[in-house]
Order: sequence, then C-alpha cells, then structure tokens
Amino acid sequence: MRLDKFLSNFGFGSRKEVKQLIKQGLVYVNDTIVKNPSLKINPEIDIVKVDNEPISYQKEFYFMLNKPSGYVSATKDETYPTVLDFFINEPVYKNLFPVGRLDIDTEGLLLITTDGIFAHRLSHPKWNVQKEYFAIVKGDISTVNLKKFEDTGIFLKKDKYQTKPFKIEIVKVEKDISEIKITVKEGKYHIVKKIMEQIGFPVLYLKRERIGNLKLDDNLKTGEYRHLTEEEIKKLKSLVNL
Ligand code: URA
Repeated sequence: MRLDKFLSNFGFGSRKEVKQLIKQGLVYVNDTIVKNPSLKINPEIDIVKVDNEPISYQKEFYFMLNKPSGYVSATKDETYPTVLDFFINEPVYKNLFPVGRLDIDTEGLLLITTDGIFAHRLSHPKWNVQKEYFAIVKGDISTVNLKKFEDTGIFLKKDKYQTKPFKIEIVKVEKDISEIKITVKEGKYHIVKKIMEQIGFPVLYLKRERIGNLKLDDNLKTGEYRHLTEEEIKKLKSLVNL
C-alpha cells in the first residue's frame, strides 16, 4: 500500500495533507525518514511512525466506511456485493465484519472491525448507543407533534414492538417532501423505516451520520473508508464500558 494512502486511512488527513506531513520529515518507516509519499509499504511488516508515535501496532482493527446503496451489510452474499468488498486489499480482510447492519439501500456510517466484543456491545440495546440518521421522507412533517416521541417512543403495531424514546428534528420541508434527522437508541431491523411508516411518512432516502460520539467523516465519499483514530476508538469504547 502507498505510504500516503496508509496514513490517510489512519485518519492523518487527506492525501494532500498527508503529503505535507511526509515532506516535513515527520514520517518514519522502519526508523528511516521517508520523503516519498508513493513509497510502497507492507502494513503487516513495516513500522510506520508519525512524530515518533508508532501507528501500525494494532491487534484489533477498526474502520469507518461510508456505505453506498446497493451493498449488503454481511461478510458473504449469494446475490449482492457486500460491504466487505471494499476491504479486499486489507491484510486483515478475512477477519473483518460489520458492526450491526444498514439496509442494502441505506448509506453512511458503518463500522467494520475485527473486534467481536466491541461489535457486540455497540449493537446491543442495553448500552443505548445513539444512532443518528438523515432521512428524506414523503409528506409534510411540519404539522406533527414530534416532541412526544422523545418521551414515549412509539408502538409499532405490525411488529407489536414498543420502541425506546427517539428524537426527530426537521431540516427542511419542501412541497410534499421533508428532510429530517432522526436519532434512535436501538438497532432493530428497519427501525427508522418502520417508525416513519407508522407516523405516515415513508422513507425515500436514508443515511446514517453518527454512532454515539462518532460522526461520519465528511472527507469520505461513498465507498471510501479509513481507520478510526486511537482517540475515536477510545471514545467509542468508553460508551460501552470497554
Ligand atoms: N433503520 C432502517 O430502517 N434502516 C437502516 O438501514 C438503519 C436503520
């Protein structure tokens, strides 16, 4: 893998920003300063340091992917491409799996990891980890009393399921289409689509923008991913007592 791509994947900035770091002489590979951003490194063998901090010593791996529509959140599928297809060149590819699921047509923040306990806890309802989505829905939502859902949640009649309290904020209403942010605390299958269907505003587009204290990185185009930084991993883990 190219050194600049490797560093960019680890959250050290865009390829351009990373090139600056390299030019400044702050990046070492196997204890030698490297000034060539296109140098090929082997992340499994080479020791890369930025500002004297080794960055390739992880036992477990944590990535954020900006998931595009059309990919299933699974490690294998008979019919559709999977979110793991983006990671095929990662040395740890075979040990990776998604944390929870986004529907095939949902975009946005999906965590991909090798860490089973982390994945299990973040997906478990017990920990109440917030998930925030941007949604485009059919209908004018501006007349609905949205406040009440923050106290009571909603009873999904078809599923006979009482949701936890959730929050809806209106971003924009135009003609018969509304844009909203919805924050839920559970990962039940199709939860946002089911809630919005029940209120009478079917979802036309859905994108996850935040999990707990972690926001989707604006620099990631759909289909792109990067490593979580040490700080991001620590903050997420703190939410689930790890
Ligand atoms: N809720 C949904 O309905 N779909 C998703 O992909 C995620 C949450």
